[in-house]
Amino acid sequence: MPLNSRIERSIARAIAAGQRGQAPPKLAAALDYAVNPGGARIRSAISLSVSLACGDDQPVVSNAAATAIELVHCASLVHDDMPCFDNADIRRGKPSVHKAFGESLALLTGDSLIIMAFEVLASAAAAGPARAVGLIRILGESTGMPGGICAGQGWESEGKIDLGAYHRAKTGALFTAATRMGATAAGYEADAWAELGARIGEAFQVADDLRDALYDEETLGKPAHQDEVHNRPNAVSQLGVRGAIRRLEDMLSGAIASIPSCPGEAALCEMVRKEAERLTPVIPAQYLV
Ligand code: IPE
Ligand code: IPE
Ligand code: MG
Ligand code: MG
Repeated sequence: MPLNSRIERSIARAIAAGQRGQAPPKLAAALDYAVNPGGARIRSAISLSVSLACGDDQPVVSNAAATAIELVHCASLVHDDMPCFDNADIRRGKPSVHKAFGESLALLTGDSLIIMAFEVLASAAAAGPARAVGLIRILGESTGMPGGICAGQGWESEGKIDLGAYHRAKTGALFTAATRMGATAAGYEADAWAELGARIGEAFQVADDLRDALYDEETLGKPAHQDEVHNRPNAVSQLGVRGAIRRLEDMLSGAIASIPSCPGEAALCEMVRKEAERLTPVIPAQYLV
């Protein structure tokens, strides 16, 4: 089965489980709204690609890892858009969850998706108990404190922000989780895979900063120029457009070089190369001369 279908099927199963029985209908609908249709599903694609490169000997566990990462990511976006964070009205080209369902349900949607992610991993314990425990630990590290998404969002309440620590926690942690969890799900040692995730994560964040600075809301499907509006440290203000592009290219070539040896190494290199192409924003001509 193609990688995308595996991810979509597994996510759909998790959401359906959360909507069963006597679930309150609006919150049940908001769960689906927050997750479907998805964005690029890049974190889950990376996780499953690493599992495949490592042999994918327990597909149920690999699917659970990819699904859990995507659920946490979607939850982080629901919370991030709320008025107490970025107050963004649009996400993925449609009203953000709090705009469509109200703030209380948005808060509960994010909470429910995070809890669902850990339930999905716990359920995978039937197929691979030791692997499931490892996955729960990695996802916890990348979601909470001191260095996960909560920490990343927490940096925005500090007077002085370290750009590296902020980006590593806000965005990098879930990319590092994606490669480490993909390996863990297939029975490989996680730590050798951290560098690949960290490099893709930093490249991704620099690309996102470039798009935020250079594109408009219609192209992005979410508000543009947010870093400037919220006066946040970002790669473009620190390095300039050309410096940011250089950083992005460095990170992506380093990412490919860091892939540990494994049975599906060649196919994984190809996947990262394709993602790198997709990630690199089209730079307006005036910045290239
Ligand atoms: C957006 O992530 C949030 C950041 C960490 C910058 P994505 O661009 O991966 O969001 P979707 O899932 O594709 O919409
Ligand atoms: C959102 O970060 C990523 C989270 C970890 C919640 P941003 O606020 O920078 O990303 P967008 O622009 O809303 O997608
Ligand atoms: Mg934000
Ligand atoms: Mg935001």
